[in-house]
Amino acid sequence: MDLHWQLLTFIVCLQLLRSAGFILQPEVRKCSYGHIDKLLRIRCYDLDLKEVPQNLKTSVEVLDLSHNRIRRLKTSSFQRYTDIKFLMLYDNMILSVEVGTFESLTSLQEIDLSNNGLTTIPLELFQLPRLRNLYIDSNELTSLNLQALEKPIRAPLEYLNVAGCELQELPDLGILPKLWQLNASMNPLENFRIDSLANMCHLQVIDLTKSQLSQCGCQQVTNHLMMLGASPKFVPVCLEALDNRVCPLPYNRTIHSPTFASCQTTLQFAETRSFWLFGAGCFGGVCFVLLIVIFCVIHCRRKRAQRRKRNAQKRKPFVISPRNAINNRQPEDEPLHCDTARK
Ligand SMILES: *[C@@H]1O[C@H](CO)[C@@H](O)[C@H](O)[C@H]1NC(C)=O
Ligand SMILES: *[C@@H]1O[C@H](CO)[C@@H](O)[C@H](O)[C@H]1NC(C)=O
Repeated sequence: MDLHWQLLTFIVCLQLLRSAGFILQPEVRKCSYGHIDKLLRIRCYDLDLKEVPQNLKTSVEVLDLSHNRIRRLKTSSFQRYTDIKFLMLYDNMILSVEVGTFESLTSLQEIDLSNNGLTTIPLELFQLPRLRNLYIDSNELTSLNLQALEKPIRAPLEYLNVAGCELQELPDLGILPKLWQLNASMNPLENFRIDSLANMCHLQVIDLTKSQLSQCGCQQVTNHLMMLGASPKFVPVCLEALDNRVCPLPYNRTIHSPTFASCQTTLQFAETRSFWLFGAGCFGGVCFVLLIVIFCVIHCRRKRAQRRKRNAQKRKPFVISPRNAINNRQPEDEPLHCDTARK
């Protein structure tokens, strides 16, 4: 009997402890909302997420999904969030991306996909009209195939990071008139060709450290960058100066090549076009304002005239003093209204 009682007490205590434990259990961590530079930011950083959450505010502009366990991106992953401008997906386990996942993100300016398990770059990223910065470093881009890429790409890429991606050569994305920084460090680059730099006519910084660049490749890159006025800071130091016969100057394949010229004209064309568009826009705007002003003036005048006429009609019996009337009066005039009124 006593033992029975003790057992019962024990069980009750256990139950109590368990329910207390249940109460003390850490509450489920949620994404946090905030603002950065007036942009709506949602941080879902390090929450063990396995999928892109679908219950967030759809007007999110900065979405941080880094340090999670996302393995797959689906066509529906970002369909609700078309205002995203900055998307952080680094440090996940992304292995596959369905076609169409990023297609609706037409406001996207920057995406960070570094430290994932991608074996190729989703080609639709290169057609996003606002994408400026692409981080895809520390992936294994062993099946990167750019045959199907539509060139020139639409994305106005300014920064590209493909460091540590097992690349044998620089990816050929066609002309990249706005690209100013390329990070291709920690890649074997065994098939590097100096020609690939002809596509980047405004390159300022290129990181080729820890790549197995040949001595000639190294010398050619350095020569090219000097001609371009870009920084050779992150290019491995060439140990020996090679003879031009062994390692020809690269200019006819870079800055004097038709590719380089077309890269430059594209940007000039874009600039002139935007200048003209801007000019046309201004002109249109001014015309519109002028039209409104003219319309207003005419309309107001007419209104005022009408009002005056109406008022005059209304006021006639009262305003025209007999004296004015007499002053203006012609001998053969009809009798005055006030006279009439008085009658
Ligand atoms: C290039 O990328 C690697 C890896 O992300 C980074 O460690 C390195 O600092 C970058 N280089 C430059 C010049 O930013
Ligand atoms: C560049 O010049 C070298 C000789 O200086 C020549 O052998 C090579 O064919 C030229 N390349 C191109 C693409 O014109």
